[in-house]
Amino acid sequence: KLVYVLNGPNLNLLGRREPGIYGSHTLDDIAALLVERGKDLDCEIEMRQSNHEGHLVDWLHEAQADGAHAVLLNAGAYTHTSVALLDAIRAIEVPVIEVHLSNPHTREEFRHKSWIGMAARGTIAGFGAKSYLLALEAAAGL
Ligand code: DQA
Repeated sequence: KLVYVLNGPNLNLLGRREPGIYGSHTLDDIAALLVERGKDLDCEIEMRQSNHEGHLVDWLHEAQADGAHAVLLNAGAYTHTSVALLDAIRAIEVPVIEVHLSNPHTREEFRHKSWIGMAARGTIAGFGAKSYLLALEAAAGL
């Protein structure tokens, strides 16, 4: 099962970026954890990160064209702003699971709204790097 793991803006700085909120794992650490867990779950991981909204849109389309089983999407701040990502999720048939390291509902009010969540199959948030592993388990079971 091919699982795309798409990461949005500023997540390339993970590990150094506000570690009190996002933890000390880097995105490479998370990729390694996912690949390892993926072996047990029969999932192949395609891990990507971009600071550009359009790349994330293109990659959602690509996941569909590639016959991906599921997408895990941490859209970073685009979660709270991007109608384009909402439309892209609606435009594909591949189920998308929304992922966050932090729990946005405990944070500033502007983070309470998620455009991604309006079309996601489900959301996992608040467990740090483990959010990704929980989302992979959910994806494998779809
Ligand atoms: C985040 C939460 C977003 O509100 C924030 O803009 C991020 C990271 C998370 O994983 O907790 O960049 O998506």
